[in-house]
Amino acid sequence: MAALGEIALSNLNGGQKLAIKYFSLAIVLFGAQILFGLLAGIQYLVPGFLFGVLDFSINRMVHVNALVVWMLCAFLGSIYWLLEDEAQHPVVGLKLGNLVFWAFTSVVALVVIVYLLVQTGRGEISTIWLITEGREYIEAPRWADIAIVVSVLVFFYNVAGTFSKGRFTGIGGVLVIDLIALFGLYLAGMFYTTNISLDQFWWWWVIHLWVEATWEVLVGAVLAYALIKTLGVRREIVETWLYIEVALMFGSGILGLGHHYFWIGTPEYWLSIGGFFSALEPIPLVAMVVHAVYDSGTHKMENNNHPAFAWMIANAFGNFLGAGVWGFMHTLPQINLFTHGTQWTASHGHLAFFGAFATINIAFFYLAVQKLRGDVWMSAELPDQGRKWKWSFSLLNIGILGMTVALLIAGYVQSQLERAIGGSSWSAYFEAQSHPWFQQAIWWRQVFGFVLLIGFIVLVWDLLTAGKRETRVIQLLKPA
Ligand code: HEM
Ligand code: HEM
Ligand SMILES: [Fe+2]
Repeated sequence: MAALGEIALSNLNGGQKLAIKYFSLAIVLFGAQILFGLLAGIQYLVPGFLFGVLDFSINRMVHVNALVVWMLCAFLGSIYWLLEDEAQHPVVGLKLGNLVFWAFTSVVALVVIVYLLVQTGRGEISTIWLITEGREYIEAPRWADIAIVVSVLVFFYNVAGTFSKGRFTGIGGVLVIDLIALFGLYLAGMFYTTNISLDQFWWWWVIHLWVEATWEVLVGAVLAYALIKTLGVRREIVETWLYIEVALMFGSGILGLGHHYFWIGTPEYWLSIGGFFSALEPIPLVAMVVHAVYDSGTHKMENNNHPAFAWMIANAFGNFLGAGVWGFMHTLPQINLFTHGTQWTASHGHLAFFGAFATINIAFFYLAVQKLRGDVWMSAELPDQGRKWKWSFSLLNIGILGMTVALLIAGYVQSQLERAIGGSSWSAYFEAQSHPWFQQAIWWRQVFGFVLLIGFIVLVWDLLTAGKRETRVIQLLKPA
């Protein structure tokens, strides 16, 4: 038995050991995402920067692909983390799961190397197979798509198999059904069609139905588990909330898909369907905030892992603000006509991805650190008075909020000058791009990007050291 406060894999069950691998890969890719985002941001300010060496198109692609992959890795990790504990049964195919982890990591590395080596060239059928499919966020070439499908099938077998053999809880049931939808949708992004409208039509099935339906439901399920663990909330309470949230999420999110069908050549009825249903999408997000605040209220904010819990609260509010409020702002077609594809969209994209997903993943990293060190006490009075986690929490959140506001201002200039006043003409586009408010906003985005980077560095440092030399063991809170 390792001493309390020392990192020891022997403190973990099999699924959790595998989860640590996924979490580590996720953190590396999170770092890569930030790095390539910063490079792309510099190219906004100095367009010739690295031109011909590392083009904007490549930086941007690696930035957003790293984002999607690190979040998926962290999700897989979170599910492996809770699987044995929740099902009360060892993971059914752990060896296979480990093998797939290494195969998956090699695929990711190879895809990125090819992105960096082949930055320009002719677009041919072989390009789709070997280099990139060119669909934003899921640009991986088709050979990698197939490898990904095989990996997720193994993962799904492990999750569904373990719950079936062990205890099938409400959280387990929601997860299994959600994973069928989540993985099934990936297939919609693999067709080849020469018609760009058709291509976009299906591509949105992956992108929108992932983030606004299946990913949100996954977050609801893992958050429910995390609340039970940190606050000691009663299972019936979190599971009841979970069912309500899932119903609302799917109820509004599925047809909310229409807010991406306004201007891509689809029939006009999407204007009303998309406008109406996506306007309802913030409702489940409000429910999630109420849920988190309710739980913390009934437990008088007492919990056994302060950093993890702070990130869970950040998740509830970040999701509500980034997805709910920032999404709602431009979701009605009357408004989207002016804001579509401007920095307004990027503003929402940054806050939503960070608020809804980065936060909950970081919470799980802290749950993992706690157990790795032998269930150490991670509440107030950490050996460093919790300075590092508080700093990284503040810097990361201030960084993303600053970037979001800067981009919103840039987007406002574009919607107003280029679209509303200039009538979307070519010259109006350049007028908006060279407007001082736009230019200054892009500088501020970069400044806050660096704040976020520092927050990330402190986060990694904290994850490596939190709970070190701690001698007190976790105090299990009794369910109320
Ligand atoms: C966690 C959930 C969400 C995430 C991660 C997210 C992320 C994004 C991203 C990255 C884009 C840009 C896509 C592109 O490349 O074109 C986008 C577009 C959009 N999102 Fe969200 N979003 C979320 C939830 C919502 C919600 C709840 C709403 C509405 C209430 C919404 C409304 C929109 C609209 C209208 C667009 C299109 C913007 C345009 O026309 O340029 N989003 N979202
Ligand atoms: C150092 C911090 C960051 C910087 C400087 C940065 C910069 C950028 C840049 C320059 C783009 C391309 C915009 C364009 O095509 O015009 C971009 C896109 C994007 N970034 Fe970041 N980023 C950073 C961090 C993040 C983080 C932490 C997230 C989410 C967790 C994120 C999510 C996204 C998304 C979703 C897009 C696509 C948005 C769209 O198409 O509308 N970025 N970022
Ligand atoms: Fe959407």
